[in-house]
Amino acid sequence: MTSVYKNLTLCLEQIRQKTDIIPKTALVLGSGLNKFTDIIDIVCTIDYHDLTGFPVSTNPMHNGRFIFGYIHQKPIVAMDGRIHYYEGYTMQQVVMPIRLMKMLGAETLILSNAVGGIKKDLNVGDFMIINDHITSFVPSPLIGKNVHELGTRFPDMSHVYNKELNDIIKQCAKELNIDIKEGIYLQTTGPNYETPAEIRAYQTLGADAVGMSTACEAMAAVHCGFKVCGISCITNKASGISAEPLSDEDVAIVASQSSDNFCKLIKSLIKSI
Ligand code: HPA
Repeated sequence: MTSVYKNLTLCLEQIRQKTDIIPKTALVLGSGLNKFTDIIDIVCTIDYHDLTGFPVSTNPMHNGRFIFGYIHQKPIVAMDGRIHYYEGYTMQQVVMPIRLMKMLGAETLILSNAVGGIKKDLNVGDFMIINDHITSFVPSPLIGKNVHELGTRFPDMSHVYNKELNDIIKQCAKELNIDIKEGIYLQTTGPNYETPAEIRAYQTLGADAVGMSTACEAMAAVHCGFKVCGISCITNKASGISAEPLSDEDVAIVASQSSDNFCKLIKSLIKSI
């Protein structure tokens, strides 16, 4: 048994001492999108720092706890605060919560994030379904001894984002009258925003939006057998696409302004799966 799996097993036992809920769906709430926690019928919260060997969020926009509860009577677990590579954690640590949520029994993973829009038709406040991603600028979370209890050494990444889930998101958005776009997401390490030259390079590579998280989580999630989908909130036009300087305050403001529609969309998605 690898030390990664041993640590995850210990965290699982620690959670099981507090709750026996088996979540069907797991959620990662992106920067400024944690208002979703208000609509969960909460049964239990567990702080990351109460779990042995667990990374804790150091970003002020992120709390650091799992929330267990129900949406439309469906059992869920939500990460109220994600772990980022730029915080200084290894990629293996960054994806620990994803793996743990799978070991808790969750089958579907809904990822969300705040991103900079590269594609011209992505406007501030828009939502984008992630169709595929580019992770070539960050290390793979699967580097190192394979955790074979979770998945295979060389996992296929041809269909990271589940098409059926994406179709359900589109249907939910239509019913709620929420405009939703689709595109390719590119992950950087952060914590700095990009230069205009980098954004032009990413555009050439086929990226539609850029952010500092998510794709590594999606990769680890596919490895351990999750069905995955991702929804991005365009909080700004990427560097050089607009002349506006970028700031985390503006990212937080736009994400929180989009929160109502985000909550409606995710609630409806959870109801439909
Ligand atoms: N770049 C990287 N990450 C981000 C951005 C951006 O423009 N906006 C929100 N998160």
